[in-house]
Amino acid sequence: GVTRHYKFDIRLKNVTRLCKTKTIVTVNGKFPGPRVVAREGDRLVIKVVNHVSNNVSIHWHGIRQLQSGWADGPAYVTQCPIQTGQSYVYNFTITGQRGTLWWHAHISWMRATLYGPLIIYPQHNASYPFAKPHKEVPIIFGEWWNANTEAVINQALVTGAGPNVSDSYTINGLPGPLYNCSAKDTFKLKVKPGKTYMLRIINAALNDDLFFRIANHTMAVVEADALYVKPFETDIIVITPGQTTNVLLKTHHNPQQTTFVMVARPYFTGQGTFDNSTIAGILMYDDDHHNSPPSSSNNISIKNLSIPTLPPINSTSFVSNFTNKFRSLASVKFPANVPRNVDKHFFFTVGLGSNPCPKNQTCQGPTNSSKFAASVNNVSMILPNTALLQSYFFKKSNGLYTSDFPSVPLVSFNYTGTPPNNTNVSNGTKVVVLPFNTSVEVVMQDTSILGAESHPLHLHGYNFYVVGQGFGNFDPKNDPANYNLVDPVERNTVGVPSGGWVAIRFLADNPGVWLMHCHFDVHLSWGLRMAWIVLDGKLPNQKLLPPPADLPMC
Ligand code: C2O
Repeated sequence: GVTRHYKFDIRLKNVTRLCKTKTIVTVNGKFPGPRVVAREGDRLVIKVVNHVSNNVSIHWHGIRQLQSGWADGPAYVTQCPIQTGQSYVYNFTITGQRGTLWWHAHISWMRATLYGPLIIYPQHNASYPFAKPHKEVPIIFGEWWNANTEAVINQALVTGAGPNVSDSYTINGLPGPLYNCSAKDTFKLKVKPGKTYMLRIINAALNDDLFFRIANHTMAVVEADALYVKPFETDIIVITPGQTTNVLLKTHHNPQQTTFVMVARPYFTGQGTFDNSTIAGILMYDDDHHNSPPSSSNNISIKNLSIPTLPPINSTSFVSNFTNKFRSLASVKFPANVPRNVDKHFFFTVGLGSNPCPKNQTCQGPTNSSKFAASVNNVSMILPNTALLQSYFFKKSNGLYTSDFPSVPLVSFNYTGTPPNNTNVSNGTKVVVLPFNTSVEVVMQDTSILGAESHPLHLHGYNFYVVGQGFGNFDPKNDPANYNLVDPVERNTVGVPSGGWVAIRFLADNPGVWLMHCHFDVHLSWGLRMAWIVLDGKLPNQKLLPPPADLPMC
């Protein structure tokens, strides 16, 4: 591999969307941020310089960071934030991974404007397990607030109410013609007839799973979270925040029209305010083989085009059907190394709500008090004021965290029927310590408090196999018999089904401190997160390397 250098200057920039101009935090003045491109085996050296008054840190979502946990990025977990005027060089090698990932800020809600694609091509002598597409196009979904997003979340945390929903969704930063005053900011994908395009789809939205469809076209899903899957055809994809999906789009040989509408809209099952507005973009056939004059392409009217329909906003059956189609390749070249024997079993409840709150703590639940909380096994995680990895590595825990994160919830519930109204949530900074090479199973159960709601759980530093999922209560006696240990999908972010559970397995072979959390930023802010400490192994390549000299201090 080679070494590739990037420089990320964190700068303010005025950007206009929906006819309002606001100042946003950007990388190099770009929104969405620049594309980072590498090949499997390359080293990335990315210097981040902070020229703004906000603290920042950048996470390379889905990169395994083998022995390089200092470069992972979540603020107060693997590093202290990069403060104004400071810089930090993220230095890591991409080992055994290729596909679509992305990078984003990992502090407060800064990722609303600080995000971009991270594309890893196969090694020079390697190819895709499918025919090489004619072109590859990143499609990155986001959310846009007219207000300052830091103000939105700060207000929500102070008042204890849910934050205001975004003013629009975006494709590659553009809201599209179904929003007021936004027709000129429409994403257009120009294609030629009879070709195959690979869309590298990334959901960078803060708080919503999304459905996506292109009128009159089907897609073949070939990759999820930078891991190849057995291809399957679909008209509609579902993607949670944090997930990436590569699809092959075959264009028509003789299209009946030159323009088709693509749309995305949320899948949402919770209660409270939500946004069911729609982003639209245009798939536009290159018509230079016809003799029509070039269309003045700026003001697209979609009035005469048909807008493809999407499932109802709360269509859990569609979502579970879709997610059940994912299978890893499990081939000789891309084997599925699913842990067969489990050393440590965990059962995590994930969800909202806490009532009553322990005295003197600000974790009151929604039923009789003013503040929301979210938790894993009734622990709503408080970030410490020094990075966990620093305090672990330098053996200065000083009460910063404790190693008693519960492996099962403190109070057992029946999650179906009437949801419990007492989750005894407490605030804390608790971790699970795992010896090197522990094989781990985690069953994550949606608590269904405040209505059944899906939660996209993301694990840093690892991919995991999704060995089972179901609705209602997980049944430890019967459900494991139905696990798929042959070709389960491998990924870094999985939607815990609304009103159900999901079981994952991974081998703890990467030493460091690794966050696991809901990738809805609103739930993350309310505490739906926990951390694993994976100890060093005995061999030199099983040890976390020392931190770089420029590691930020708190
Ligand atoms: Cu993409 Cu911890 O995040």
